[in-house]
Order: sequence, then C-alpha cells, then structure tokens
Amino acid sequence: MRLGVCYYPEQWPQDMWADDAARMAALGISHVRIGEFAWALMEPDPGHYDWAWLDLAIDTLAAAGLKIVLGTPTATPPKWLVDAHPDMLAVGEDGRVRGYGSRRHYCFSSEAYRVECARIVTAMAERYGRHPALVAWQTDNEFGCHDTTLSYSANAAGRFRTWLGARYQSVEALNRAWGAVFWSQAYRSFEEVEPPNLTVTEANPSHRLDYNRFASDEVVSFNRLQVDILRRLSPGRDIVHNFMGFYTEFDHFHVGRDLDVATWDSYPLGFLEMFGGSNEDKLRYLRQGHPDISGFHHDLYRACGRGRWWVMEQQPGPVNWATYNPAPIPGMVRAWTWEAFAHGAELVSYFRWRQAPFAQEQMHAGLNRPDNVLDRGGSEARQVAEELKTFPDLGLCGRSRVALVFSYEADWLTKIQPHARGFRSLFLAFETYSALRRAGLDVDMLAPDGDMSGYDLILAPTLPVLSEEDLARLDASGAVIVCGPRTGSRTKDGHIPADLGPGPLQTHLSAKVVRVESLRPGADPKVVLDGQAFDAKLWRDDLETDLPALATFEDGKPAWVADGRWHYLATWPGPELMDQVVARLARQAGLTVNLMPEGVRTRDRDGVRFAINFAPEMRSAPAPEGVQFLLGGRDLAPGAVAAWQIA
Ligand code: GAL
Repeated sequence: MRLGVCYYPEQWPQDMWADDAARMAALGISHVRIGEFAWALMEPDPGHYDWAWLDLAIDTLAAAGLKIVLGTPTATPPKWLVDAHPDMLAVGEDGRVRGYGSRRHYCFSSEAYRVECARIVTAMAERYGRHPALVAWQTDNEFGCHDTTLSYSANAAGRFRTWLGARYQSVEALNRAWGAVFWSQAYRSFEEVEPPNLTVTEANPSHRLDYNRFASDEVVSFNRLQVDILRRLSPGRDIVHNFMGFYTEFDHFHVGRDLDVATWDSYPLGFLEMFGGSNEDKLRYLRQGHPDISGFHHDLYRACGRGRWWVMEQQPGPVNWATYNPAPIPGMVRAWTWEAFAHGAELVSYFRWRQAPFAQEQMHAGLNRPDNVLDRGGSEARQVAEELKTFPDLGLCGRSRVALVFSYEADWLTKIQPHARGFRSLFLAFETYSALRRAGLDVDMLAPDGDMSGYDLILAPTLPVLSEEDLARLDASGAVIVCGPRTGSRTKDGHIPADLGPGPLQTHLSAKVVRVESLRPGADPKVVLDGQAFDAKLWRDDLETDLPALATFEDGKPAWVADGRWHYLATWPGPELMDQVVARLARQAGLTVNLMPEGVRTRDRDGVRFAINFAPEMRSAPAPEGVQFLLGGRDLAPGAVAAWQIA
C-alpha cells in the first residue's frame, strides 16, 4: 500500500523541482506520475526531440528516492502534428471536426496518428525504458474522456467497413444481421456503409451496436500498439492505463487484458454531482461522496486488472469540472485513500501535487496551493503515510462470495434503445451493487465471460445479450443466480430472440416475456412482496409462466419468479425492494447480511475489516465487542475510518 502523486514539472520553474521532490518524499509519497501531456515539449519541432528537461526532471525525482510512472503523451498531440495531419482529428456525431486547443484531439482510427504515436512511444521507451527509477508506464490518458471513443471521421468509416468485412464476410450476412429489409436499408457492398450518425431519425440499432463494438476494438488496438512497444523496449515495468468513473463507451475488460494493472481516476464529489442520482443524495453526501460510487469503481477496475489495481488520480480537494465543486469535509481525502486500500489498491496517487495558477484547471485543487503551501489534502496524505508506517502490509483482496456481472455491451444496448428515459444498464448495476453493500456484502465484479466459479450468489442486473456460453458458465458456478429485466432479450445481432426473452435463460427458468412496457416517473410500477407494496421504476416485463411468483405487480402478475436457484426480476426495483431482494437471495445462498448503519460501508482485505462513515452524522463501527482497532475506533465521526483484524 503506497502513495503517489501526479506532477507536471514542465509547468513549474526548474529551480522548484528539487524542493518539490524532497517535499514529496518527506510527505511519504513513493511514486510520481509525470509526462502524459508533454509531447510539445518532448518534440518541439517535428523529429527534433528535446529530452534535456525530462532527463533532469526524472533524475531529480529519482535522486529523492521517488519511483517514476511515465505517461505516454498521446492524449495531447502538438499543434504542428495536427497541422501536418488535419485528418487525424475526430469528427463528432454532429459531423463537425473536433478541433485543436484542449486535449484528446485525435481519432483512434487515424492510421497517420497511429504511426506518430508509435514513433514518440518508441523514442520515449528507448530513452527511459531501462531507467532504474522507472517502475511503470501509463498509456495515453483516460481513453474516451470528453466523449472521444466514437468518432465519425472518414478514417473511422474506412476502418469500420474493414471491421464489418471481417465480422460478416458477406454483405448479405450484414443485411440479415441488421434487419436491413426494414426501411430499405439493404447494402450492396461494405463500401456503401456509413457510420450511424446524421440520419434523419434514429439509425438502425444493430448498426449502432456494431459501431460501438468497432469503436471499442479501436481503443483496444490503439492501446495495444503502445503496449507492444513498451513491453519490447522496457521489460519488467508495469503497463497501466487510467480509466474513468461512470464511463462505458469501450470495453474496459478488453483493454485491461493487455495491461498489468488497471488504474482509475477517482473524483468522488465530482461524480456525485454529475451522476449521483437523487438531489437528496447529492445534498446529503455533498462533501463526502456517495458511499458506493468509489467502491463500485474500485471493484470494477480490480476485475479489469485481474486483481491488480491502483487509483491513479485521487481527488485532493475541490475539482474544476463538475456543475458545482464543493470542498470535501476535513478527513475525507484520508478516508477515500483508506477506502481504496480496503478494496485492494496497491497505490493511491493524488491529482495533483500543486494547483496550477493558469490554464483550464486553475480552479482544481492539488495537495499544495498555487502559492506552494501544503493544503488540507496534502496534510491528509501525510497522515495516511504516517499511519501506513505501522499498519500491517496487506496482501490483495481474496475472492468474495458475491459477484455482479457487468457488461459494457449491455450498457451500449440500453443507451441505443433505452425504451424509457433513464434506463441504463450502468445505473441498474450501480443500484444493485449499492444494495449489496448496504447489506454488508463484499462484491466482485465479473465480465460476462469471467470466471464464475466459487461464488455463492451471482447477480446479473441486466444482460440483454445472453450467449449460450455465458449461460453455461453461470450454470456451472452452482451459485444462486438472479437476472434482471431485459436479460436474454436480444440476440448478438440485436434482434428479439425467436423464443422471446429471456432467451436461452428459459432452459433454466420456465418464464417467457410476452410484452414489455416502460413507464414515466409518477406512473412507476408497484411490487407487492409478503403483503407489502414497494416502489419499482421505469420497466415492466409481462411474464407468461407457471412458476409461483415471489413478488407480484399490483395487478397480481409476477414481478419476481424463481425456479430453484434461478431467479428473474421483471422490473427495476427501488432501493427498499432491492434491499428485500438482496436479503432473500443472500439467505438462499447461505450468506449473512449485516445491514450497515446508514452511510457506513465495510470492506475486507487480507484478514482486516475496514469501516468508513460517509454520513454527515456520527455512526458506530460494526465491530465485535472487545476488538483491537488497527485504525480509529468504534465511534465514527463523518469521514472517519476504522480497521480491525477479523478471524
Ligand atoms: C482527469 C484527467 C486529469 C485531470 C483531472 C482533473 O480526468 O485525467 O488530467 O484533468 O481529471 O480532475
């Protein structure tokens, strides 16, 4: 468990560097990430490299004992490069070129840009790949940030056609897969196919789904191009990428397979403001963050990294990019850091060392203020470093007993055809996760093709495309399994299956979805469970089944059915219903539910249980009597952390 920081030496006078490095080391920071936006300084003119400043920066940091994480600078190509290859720019859905002047101004499908990337990465790896202080490479920065995964450029169109050719072999097969007989959409050749934007009304959903799959593969191959070079020229160093929160436009499991460590950028207050659900939650957790937003991503990226993961950027104070940007309560930066360690992080690295007094992010806090005085986030980082000195060095997280299946493709599908405003697989997964965590359960996230063995309970909040293989894997797990609405409702081509939803699931659970409807807020479905009515929302499947209903809609039709260990939910449960569902499933799976005090979450790592209070009021740690605390104690003030050994 180590601490790091993101640092931009190029943004500060050189005579500050040695002092910065010394202060980082004195604070207890061991890793420093640099370089990811500095291409224009590394190569000020085409083919003319200037490494002197970066040599000095790396040597200065290394001399202070810091380990270097070096970013490839491909998220910010220099102006001269854009001028030389204007067609490397992405094109937005509105058909307009996305221009130079901020960052991520490139299209993943530009072959010319890929050649340039390979060149700068090779040059960097040749120069620094074997530097003794270099421990890791970060490829690019936040693939997809600012909506940059999908581009509608001529380059993307060309590569999409090649991708379609490889997938379908014949244009007849493509026409069948897309249902092109509808609205005269038949193509005579792959050459006729365009990206699915600028259509009069919605484009064909199968076309859009394939475009999303293609765009995701483009990110994978773009990353792999860099990974291959780095592996060859810089052996023994970890290769990482920093993913984002609530971002699903490419399949992170697929990118993760080429990495040694998955990392992500955790901004709890920004995420709450931008994505965090009800206004009530946004106000309640304003300065602490939602109790499950970080945890959800920690667990997701732990899965993407096959157990190894870091926080590459940890919020240190107010950010600049949300609609409103409150400051965390005192102690919260420390709490987020411990929360990440509790979920198995090897490293938590703060963004950034010092707040910049200029340019786009001048309103974004750092560990230090712009006048170089240590800010509150900085003292909390120092406190964690002090605490780590005596804290047992923990191994990684073991396997949990509960798994949640998360599918990026499911999210593309529900974005393409939500059918109800707000129906997104991502948020159904998040709300399901949240209920499991309120029940005191640790959760592993799984890709649909992940290893399902050894779990007692597996939840698939929604998996519209349920392949026979995925189903066989679920079956072989022997776990209690619950599938949510829309599971098995589409073939891989995006059609309604011949035997209707839930498709292949019907071999394990004899229920058929004969009609679906979606409902606006205010007309939400109610679900009756043991005589009590609960709120559900947005969605209702009409099931034709002889199975007894565990819960019904108000008109008596089944809302929840089970066939032995297989369960199906025909709606999107509200939080209270979700709690009931989780409690019953847990009981059937032989798991103990420990209902958390509101706002408190626990997480186990290598024999130690952590508790964190996200509520704005005092809480009590759910620890047994007489336990020896490794950190904190039973009384949990807002933002407090406790940890104790478990059997
Ligand atoms: C991240 C990004 C950083 C910085 C940060 C600000 O999305 O990777 O470069 O912009 O946000 O919060």
